[in-house]
Amino acid sequence: MILILMGPPGAGKGTQARMLEERHGLVQLSTGDMLRAAIAAGTEIGKQAKAVMDRGELVSDDIMVEIIAARISEDDCANGFILDGFPRTPAQAEALDRMFVDKGFEIGSVVEITVNEDALVERISGRFTCAHCGEGYHDAFKRPKTDGICDMCGGTDFTRRPDDNAETVRRRLGEYHRQTAPILPYYRDKGLLRQVDGMAGIDAVARQIEEVLEAA
Ligand code: AP5
Repeated sequence: MILILMGPPGAGKGTQARMLEERHGLVQLSTGDMLRAAIAAGTEIGKQAKAVMDRGELVSDDIMVEIIAARISEDDCANGFILDGFPRTPAQAEALDRMFVDKGFEIGSVVEITVNEDALVERISGRFTCAHCGEGYHDAFKRPKTDGICDMCGGTDFTRRPDDNAETVRRRLGEYHRQTAPILPYYRDKGLLRQVDGMAGIDAVARQIEEVLEAA
């Protein structure tokens, strides 16, 4: 199964992708996580991406298409994957279609997580992540069961993203409307787009996504 998760920054794509990964054994392909790993590793792509991401703008299509083309060719993607953060421009959506034709892959569903924009800044500014395993948390909506200890791996170090400040979030939202939202009609016309209400709680959103997958 190949699933594309779409929605603005803070909609819950990463949260849901990690839950789907656990439930269905699908691999989560988060382009944001891949870029952050490249920055941490000090690679050439990481160096190019850092300033762009810190400004809340999009990294170039060429770089992103190259990263995804390489990643979906790896063995662990053979049984399906979840795209979280890709495609993000019409050019990326078209490049993905070409890659899928070459590989004989088919998109199962495109799920748009819809949210009220007022909620996004609150969600993003309260977000933190386990520095060891990457599990995501929120100051109000998803705290670790024991404060200061990751539920998944027992890690005690947590990080906050440098692009999770109010000014950058506004720019990321602007980029979403300008460059990413125009892809939605492309998938609607192909009969692949389904919407779920991202204002519901995390588990309720997960149930809506399961219903989409069952109906696909
Ligand atoms: P990326 O890392 O993809 O960030 P994003 O799309 O802005 O999305 P986020 O990770 O901020 O939000 P999310 O929807 O995953 O929400 P989450 O589940 O964490 O991209 C970062 C940057 O990389 C981009 O700005 C760009 O520069 C670059 N980039 C990446 N891909 C690219 C591409 N393809 N092309 C070009 N550039 C690219 O949830 C947020 C918080 O809310 C969490 O704390 C969570 O616990 C909480 N939460 C989640 N769901 C709920 C709920 N239902 N109710 C209450 N709280 C909830």
